[in-house]
Amino acid sequence: MGKILYTDHLVREKVKELAQQITERYRGERLLVIGVLKGAWIFMADLVRFMDMELFCDFVRVASYGKGTESTGEVCLLYWPDLDFRGERVLVVDDIADTGLTLKFLRKKFLNEGAKSVEFCVLLDKPSRRKVDFIPDYVGFTIPDRFVVGYGMDFNEQYRNLPNIEIYEG
Ligand code: IMP
Ligand code: MG
Repeated sequence: MGKILYTDHLVREKVKELAQQITERYRGERLLVIGVLKGAWIFMADLVRFMDMELFCDFVRVASYGKGTESTGEVCLLYWPDLDFRGERVLVVDDIADTGLTLKFLRKKFLNEGAKSVEFCVLLDKPSRRKVDFIPDYVGFTIPDRFVVGYGMDFNEQYRNLPNIEIYEG
């Protein structure tokens, strides 16, 4: 495929670091870890296995309308967990913070559902792409405006199974 940006080994070390930061932050508290499908599933599976604490896992699925590598402004919920979020601490896990539209939308949604706190953990952050004000709380790697695939991330549903994170070169 494309040029390797981060090897699976490097990703694993970074995921372990993120898990340690989060575990220290929430030690002794109950945490709902919510992955954003589909891009986050591999990252989340690895992340929670490095978190030695009481936690519960579920997922949301959203679609931001758009084609190819561009998203438009609208966010639509395709799956929402059957959970009571009132008074809960929520950690949203996603593969990439790009325009920030999805994650900003989710922050509002979880707070509307009564969550006590909402934080965001993303493996990759592309701050130069932001269209709305959004700053993730835990970031693996900050990257330039390049389209990447692998480790759960796709281009038109392909390449999610690549173990390394690669730059998509068409
Ligand atoms: P946004 O922050 O609302 O624009 O949504 C970001 C979502 O678009 C991410 O969670 C990814 O699923 C997807 N995305 C953004 N950039 C990339 C990329 O470089 N590769 C694969 N998916 C991406
Ligand atoms: Mg995503």
